[in-house]
Amino acid sequence: MATTHTWQFAERTRAGAGDGIAAILGLLGNPELISFAGGFPDPRTFPADRVAGLAAELDASAFQYAPTRGLEGIRDVLAGRLDRRPEDDEVLVTSGGIEALELVAKSFLDRGDDVVVEAPTYLGAIMAFRSFEANVHTVPVDADGLDVDALASLLEGGLRPKLLYTIPDHQNPAGVTLAADRRAALVEVARRHGTLVIEDVAYRELGFDGTAPPSLWSLAPDVVVQAGTTSKTFFPGVRLGWAAGPAEVVAQLVSAKQNTDQCSGALGQRLFEEYARRGWLEEQLARSRELYARKCALLLDALRASMPESVSWTTPRGGFFSWLTGSFDAAELARRAADAGVAVVPGALFYPDGRGGDSVRLSFSMVDEAQIAPGIETLASVV
Ligand SMILES: Cc1ncc(COP(=O)(O)O)c(C=O)c1O
Repeated sequence: MATTHTWQFAERTRAGAGDGIAAILGLLGNPELISFAGGFPDPRTFPADRVAGLAAELDASAFQYAPTRGLEGIRDVLAGRLDRRPEDDEVLVTSGGIEALELVAKSFLDRGDDVVVEAPTYLGAIMAFRSFEANVHTVPVDADGLDVDALASLLEGGLRPKLLYTIPDHQNPAGVTLAADRRAALVEVARRHGTLVIEDVAYRELGFDGTAPPSLWSLAPDVVVQAGTTSKTFFPGVRLGWAAGPAEVVAQLVSAKQNTDQCSGALGQRLFEEYARRGWLEEQLARSRELYARKCALLLDALRASMPESVSWTTPRGGFFSWLTGSFDAAELARRAADAGVAVVPGALFYPDGRGGDSVRLSFSMVDEAQIAPGIETLASVV
């Protein structure tokens, strides 16, 4: 029903990026488009039959409220999967990766506090920090991930961010991975300046060859909170993730969660625990890596075959994304591509400051294999 009121929403809602996500979801909803837009997992990876079987076996704990930290069983399983096993008080189950970011932001950020993110970075993280009225600063990324020298200069110049947010593995949106030597340098810089690092590992287990450099968490559990999710490896319908970090930080996140959603869904926690214990997660991961590697190869072949020389793109070794840069106006390109039947996300959505106008994000995770070449051909004709 229409209202005559003018509602006075809180100032923190004026961050703006929310419309951007809505626009992406809007594009995704149009089944006519060949979509390189959303970072959704391919539904062919979803384990519907096995999950249905498991659901029939579960006891009452799966249907009851859970402890705020999460059920013991899944915390044990999650801890055992990390490359440095967290102690019991160093890990918390969250409702997806985004809640881990939200809880850190809620626990640390007062209005006007400084946060550093990669440029470009995950839009959801920009929104999470903005919603607590933080000033979001950037450091560049290149083919080897975050530019640690640029970060060091920024901090030596006097900036004192409370948080540094990074996606070291198969970054969203750039598709790049932080080189092993930069990882050690990065945590040293953070230690020296007393900055808490949030390491988002959403795509870490989706390296095409199944390997990954040491996590920042394993290198520096004193200054790193690892935020993880099962959305890309199990399925996003369970809304399940984790945060691993210093015990006193995790205790604060638990406290923040008590008045956010109190606990993550027990049903998803029990399903994931049993699924992983039976070895099925590893099987799913192996199939997913193969599928996404195949799609990525098709995308790169198609780009090489159709794009003009003035256009460049990143070469992912895992994850869902490649980042395309050229001498075009990305917003205009995205609009004209949509008219021609192809959805891509304009780069400016992944910057907190309006840059990115010469880049678009290409996601290869959900698009049909057979549509990749024709979709890229169409995009190239619009370029
Ligand atoms: C880098 C990154 N972090 C976190 C998330 C959010 O994960 P979840 O769906 O589990 O909240 C995403 C999802 O797109 C992502 O790309």
